[in-house]
Amino acid sequence: MQLLNGKLFSEAEAQTLYDIMLNRRDVRGNRFLDQPIGEEALQQLLDAALHAPSVGFSQPWEFVLIREAAVKSKIKASYEEVNSKAAELFQDEKQERYKRLKLEGIAEAPLNIAVFYKPSAVPVLGQTEMTEMGLYSVVCAVQNMWLMARALNIGIGWVSILDPEQVKQILNAPPANQLVAYLCVGYTDGFYTSPELEMLQWEKRKAAEAAIFYDGYPGGSSIQ
Ligand SMILES: Cc1cc2nc3c(=O)[nH]c(=O)nc-3n(C[C@H](O)[C@H](O)[C@H](O)COP(=O)(O)O)c2cc1C
Repeated sequence: MQLLNGKLFSEAEAQTLYDIMLNRRDVRGNRFLDQPIGEEALQQLLDAALHAPSVGFSQPWEFVLIREAAVKSKIKASYEEVNSKAAELFQDEKQERYKRLKLEGIAEAPLNIAVFYKPSAVPVLGQTEMTEMGLYSVVCAVQNMWLMARALNIGIGWVSILDPEQVKQILNAPPANQLVAYLCVGYTDGFYTSPELEMLQWEKRKAAEAAIFYDGYPGGSSIQ
């Protein structure tokens, strides 16, 4: 057994992580710069992803790095198709506002990363009952990468307005793989201090009391 000699962090380091978390933003195409990401930074992003927690230590993730304009333009075409259908689901003035939103940066970001879940052919410790745990592990990898990127002042935007099967076909993904995230990655001309959808009054941040409960939801009787 190894000794319990893992690194301990200072208060200042904890504050830095907190700052990174509070200042992480979803970055869209109107903010990306045409500036490639260096090899060292890219390796840090990928390494952060590869060190995420995963159910049963299954590490069920695969990453496809996309830099070719021709590949990006096929993905962008899929986005356009799906997004015009998505707009129809919003009514009246909200639809008009939806159509004005910039919701991706596929062409503008120098790097796109498609993140896949690769299901295991054998039972995975911890995933036998709650079968979505493998997918959630891949989301942990995405979040690690997103935070690492912010620490390096690199922006990431998550695009989910896509047909996952079309994306799989464009990228020649194995049939069993599931698309979890499509990320646009690049340096930016700046980061907003609060979510763009909050600034545009599309959504408000939830109050902590609306999301956090103690010893069960209100109205229950946990003590008999
Ligand atoms: C699972 C997931 C999917 C998302 N999909 C999109 C998307 O398709 N387009 C987009 O503009 N933003 C997308 N976002 C970004 C959210 O809109 C953003 O996280 C939210 O508005 C809060 O803003 P912030 O990330 O800057 O704090 C997605 C975020 C998550 C976690």
